[in-house]
Amino acid sequence: MSIEIDILNGDASWSIAEPLHSAVWPRHRVEKQPWGHILWADADLRVLIETPEDGLVCHVGIYFRTISWNGRKVHVGGIGGVCTREDRRGRGYATMAIDAAVHTMRANEAVRFALLFCEPHNVEFYEARNWHAFTGDVYCEQPEGRIRFDHMAPFVFDIARAPRLGTIDLCGLPW
Ligand SMILES: CC(C)(COP(=O)(O)OP(=O)(O)OC[C@H]1O[C@@H](n2cnc3c(N)ncnc32)[C@H](O)[C@@H]1OP(=O)(O)O)[C@@H](O)C(=O)NCCC(=O)NCCS
Repeated sequence: MSIEIDILNGDASWSIAEPLHSAVWPRHRVEKQPWGHILWADADLRVLIETPEDGLVCHVGIYFRTISWNGRKVHVGGIGGVCTREDRRGRGYATMAIDAAVHTMRANEAVRFALLFCEPHNVEFYEARNWHAFTGDVYCEQPEGRIRFDHMAPFVFDIARAPRLGTIDLCGLPW
């Protein structure tokens, strides 16, 4: 079966990604989550995996941001909105899409490491793919101001060596 992997501008491709997002994270389910009230950043780029039979089956958002780590500015790549159509899981689509996202970040020489936030039930999924827990503190912006972001677990991926400890300020909305 042929598959197509595209990396598109985040805003321009939102209309393609939105139906899959809504199916995986319907509003009534999101509202019940501890992170349901969080305002998220929009992706800069999106990895979209499509098949001729099924259309869009998998999505990964890519974010580029200058954050601070222990008060020092550092440019990172973010990953968010990782989702595969429920009836097409376990075929390697998310693994492929995350690989494509990391590959895209590596192409940007300024990016020192990748950073994502996940729910406890997905920790093993990322650990199996060489992501490491960041055990320090994370802060971000929300409409009400700067908050500690402890709604999901931060995970980092070495591009150059990623920090495992310390204080990260996302200097903007989380992803
Ligand atoms: C997590 C998710 C993106 C994986 O997508 P996928 O396309 O099925 O992933 P892949 O096919 O690349 O990888 C599947 C493998 O990961 C494993 N896996 C999937 N979810 C897992 C989890 N939560 N914990 C541990 N392993 C997991 C599967 O057992 C499978 O293992 P195998 O290859 O040994 O059979 C998908 O389950 C999903 O969309 N979940 C709902 C949204 C979500 O939670 N997204 C993550 C946001 S951080």
